[in-house]
Amino acid sequence: MQAYLKNPVFKLIASCADELGVQAYVIGGFVRDIFLERESKDIDIVTIGKGIELAKLVHQKLGDEAHLSVFKNFGTAQVKINDLEIEFVGARRESYNRNSRKPIVEDGTLEDDQNRRDFTINAFAIGLNKNEFGKLLDPFNGKADLENKIIRTPLAPDITYSDDPLRMMRAIRFSSQLGFSIEEKSLQAISENKQRIDIVSKERITDELNKIILSPVPSVGFKLLFDTGLLHLIFPEMVKLHGVETINGKSHKDNFYHTLEVLDNTARNSNDLWLRWAAILHDIAKPATKRFETEHGWTFHGHEDKGARMVPKIFANLKLPLNEKMKYVQKLVLLHLRPIVLAKTEISDSAVRRVLFEAGEDIDDLMTLCEADITTKNPNKVKRYLQNFEIVREKLKELEEKDKLRNWQPPVSGEEIMEMFNLQPCKKVGDLKNALREAILDGVIPNNKDQGIAFLEEFYKTL
Ligand code: CTP
Repeated sequence: MQAYLKNPVFKLIASCADELGVQAYVIGGFVRDIFLERESKDIDIVTIGKGIELAKLVHQKLGDEAHLSVFKNFGTAQVKINDLEIEFVGARRESYNRNSRKPIVEDGTLEDDQNRRDFTINAFAIGLNKNEFGKLLDPFNGKADLENKIIRTPLAPDITYSDDPLRMMRAIRFSSQLGFSIEEKSLQAISENKQRIDIVSKERITDELNKIILSPVPSVGFKLLFDTGLLHLIFPEMVKLHGVETINGKSHKDNFYHTLEVLDNTARNSNDLWLRWAAILHDIAKPATKRFETEHGWTFHGHEDKGARMVPKIFANLKLPLNEKMKYVQKLVLLHLRPIVLAKTEISDSAVRRVLFEAGEDIDDLMTLCEADITTKNPNKVKRYLQNFEIVREKLKELEEKDKLRNWQPPVSGEEIMEMFNLQPCKKVGDLKNALREAILDGVIPNNKDQGIAFLEEFYKTL
């Protein structure tokens, strides 16, 4: 174990602890991450007594580059040095009130402190004092759980989850992030305690949800959220996608599992949280727009438009930012069918130009989403779509080089139009601007100033 405490700061903390006669341990996520070979910059130190004094002495010995913050009310202190954050907390024993995540805290032993932790893999401690420097204290056999890839609680799961219901989200998040399975009785306890998620703030729930979304195969986490019933409580719009209806022997696909496939496909090609959110929401309005038409079977007309309009409310409910990230997701939801329509039909320059114009800078992300949306199991169809997609991509590249539509600005501005025809701001100016844009998108004229002016002069005569 000593080899793991490579950073010289541990020796320093150890000698300070010995000097003050304080017992000190490295604990929790930092130790877990040592075994998982993940680099972590947050070090938690648990002490038996005098945590703040230990932090002060460590700070003093580290010198000017270190920064100390003391939180007297909580009995904790933090030392920052370079990009490391070292938290000092006295060992605690916690008891919970049913209506709050905030426990009543008392001083406790190391064992009390390990007992109150969420999972066996987060409850390791490593001794720092001279007599036990580097010794692993693993009372719940977390090491075996790490090896067997199992999420297990130190105490009976009912107690651990009911004490702090955020841990239900954390269990699923770790499972999705690390590819671990959740112990059966833990899963059972999550299902039984799911309603207790009500006492957790939306921000914290969404923090965990975003970590699930950013995990390597996010469907793992979403399936667990769905199967335990948590998803129904935290994100009901997504649950509505679940299920298959059959009329006259015709069934539509299960849009929940389809969405998860699209999300996983997107995750394989992009680590961007917001592109992954666009994948989650691309078909969100399918349940609301679903119709059975005798001639055509199941249709979802306008789901892209309605879906885009649903995004702000969903973002607000989940306390996601209502800023340009939301606008980006809206835009991708709105446009998500466009490249596939291009790929299905005869590909005209003007249709490609329009998509390029509307997607602007986000055209590559739109293409990634759209390709991820191909989840048919028919290999011939997949092949055909992918081939057509290549043609669309080629065309996009060619037209972008030629027309520079990504950040399109009209070659003749509104002001110039007013000057040319001696007009005040009025509807005519708007009509001229629109006609110019349409002519460029339709390929009637190239995207340049001279041709733009010539076109406007001709068009003005028809008004
Ligand atoms: N912990 C807990 N219950 C919680 C949150 C945290 O018991 N609801 C304990 C765990 O022992 C955890 C430690 O506090 O390892 C530190 O928590 P935190 O820094 O939030 O998370 P990490 O486990 O380090 O994981 P990550 O950094 O990926 O969030």
